[in-house]
Amino acid sequence: MFVSLEGIDGSGKSTQARLLAEALGPDTLLIREPGGTEVAERVRELLADPALEVEPLAELLLFLAARADLTARVIRPALEGDLDIVSDRFADSSVAYQGAARGLGVGEVISLTDSATEGLWPDLTVLLRVDPEVGMERADGADRLESEGLELQRAVAEAYEEIASVASDRVVIVDGEGSVEDVHDRVLEAVRERSAG
Ligand code: ADP
Ligand code: TYD
Repeated sequence: MFVSLEGIDGSGKSTQARLLAEALGPDTLLIREPGGTEVAERVRELLADPALEVEPLAELLLFLAARADLTARVIRPALEGDLDIVSDRFADSSVAYQGAARGLGVGEVISLTDSATEGLWPDLTVLLRVDPEVGMERADGADRLESEGLELQRAVAEAYEEIASVASDRVVIVDGEGSVEDVHDRVLEAVRERSAG
């Protein structure tokens, strides 16, 4: 099973992805986006550099280059080897940030993302819903996108809600506020419900 965690910056994705992967057991691969291959980790460094300015389309294509490499080299082989995958962000991040918040167009970004992954989407996406102000307080604000502030977070949060309503067969919303343990219980319940059904 391929599970992605999504949400605004500071929603608790990294924390919950790690706990979920531990709970699912040793046949689980934990990955993060952008990252997971040598090239994708370098793209990650490039994108997080606050000193660099980049055009929105170029930014999207960098995320997609990282995702294409990760999908072909890591995700597909792992799924073929019957591993479960827990990914800290995946394609919906591009749809929410670049497609909606940056205004490149949701349909356009979905179609380009689909090409980059050759049609691979997660079996289940857990959207951690937190108030943008809570997310901002939690996040350290160090990377380039986070430092752009609350307005971007609000636009991204709204885009995620739209994605969850359009793709309700794949995306489950989980309340991301409260203690780490309580959120983990909710995430695990959502995953178990999906894998049982
Ligand atoms: P994301 O990957 O979505 O940016 P993180 O998991 O890195 O989020 O969490 C951001 C910050 O918030 C971290 O310092 C983390 O320890 C803290 N954090 C995560 N979950 C919670 C929670 N449920 N309550 C309070 N703080 C949290
Ligand atoms: P990440 O390291 O997951 O940040 P955080 O843990 O704070 O949520 O991601 C870095 C930034 O990259 C984050 O602001 C979201 C952004 N991003 C996109 O804009 N598009 C994408 O396709 C992905 C994967 C991430």
